[in-house]
Amino acid sequence: MTATDTIVATSAISAHGVARAFGSVQAVADATLEVRPGTVTALIGPNGCGKTTLMLMLAGLLRPDAGEIRVAGADPRHDSAAVRAAIGWMPDQLGSWDNLTCLQTLTLMGRGYRLHKHEARERGVGLLGMVHLSEFADRPTRVLSRGQKQRLSLARALMNDPQVLLLDEPANGLDPRSRIELRTLVRELAADGKAVLVSSHVLAELDEMVDDAIFMSKGRTLGDEAAAKVADAKRRYRVATLDDAALREVLAEGGVPFDDEPSGVVVRVGSEEEAFQALAWLMSRGVKVHRFGPAGSALEQTYMSMEEERR
Ligand SMILES: Nc1ncnc2c1ncn2[C@@H]1O[C@H](COP(=O)(O)OP(=O)(O)OP(=O)(O)O)[C@@H](O)[C@H]1O
Ligand SMILES: [Mg+2]
Repeated sequence: MTATDTIVATSAISAHGVARAFGSVQAVADATLEVRPGTVTALIGPNGCGKTTLMLMLAGLLRPDAGEIRVAGADPRHDSAAVRAAIGWMPDQLGSWDNLTCLQTLTLMGRGYRLHKHEARERGVGLLGMVHLSEFADRPTRVLSRGQKQRLSLARALMNDPQVLLLDEPANGLDPRSRIELRTLVRELAADGKAVLVSSHVLAELDEMVDDAIFMSKGRTLGDEAAAKVADAKRRYRVATLDDAALREVLAEGGVPFDDEPSGVVVRVGSEEEAFQALAWLMSRGVKVHRFGPAGSALEQTYMSMEEERR
């Protein structure tokens, strides 16, 4: 079987054994991932592990040395025009921002996608409204603040109504409200059938946004091993009560294993159904539970355990 055979046809983004070096630096050594339409996948890993390099290759902006890539069914190496038409790319570094106004910037982008002038303008106006930059429509982009530029960059990535979105640290520099709006927007785009790959270092934020996560370390995607850790972390539930001594007693009597952590008692549940049953049982035993839920960010826990293994 060749690498091409293993590319999954139903994926909007598919990469297999992708590698890229810059001189003696192996930026990406072996990256394999799939992103299905209608889902959001996080790309997570320490600084310099190869996330941006991988995204540039997926966007068709950088040639891989090895491996297979398909984006919306096309191979960026041979059909970069098809890939460009299908993707929205939001880079981590803001490009050059000159004297064009925000609306001109978007209209120009739309023209690049062969939209008619009025169509491009209409879409630009709509997207500026969506990212709350309408009042800046006729002002030059250079006057925008960092977060505002980031929002314009997101609007730019959406000009061609892309099937696939590649977002490299999109929340960087955004204020709290814009971060929440970004999360909602990303979920809406996925609900609309788009495939989204998003890199970020704010893992607690990704927890609420993503369906899946790809962990990278030193140029390699970590695959199943990381997925198993995320699934395991999601099973950990923290129980907060008015009387932890009574809780421990009831858990011990019931033979339910638990971890006594500094932040409180943590139990493991197999599923949401099991979590419901555990809570109902604790209540029936008179335990005064005032909070019961996942014990923190599953992605953060996974990241930290991976980092520990690295040391
Ligand atoms: N154009 C380039 N020339 C030389 N080395 C590069 C180039 N681009 C990236 N690298 C190197 O490749 C490695 C991966 O870089 P990359 O930007 O992909 O990391 P990253 O995971 O996106 O990091 P960060 O979290 O800081 O954004 C780094 O060691 C970096 O120094
Ligand atoms: Mg990067």
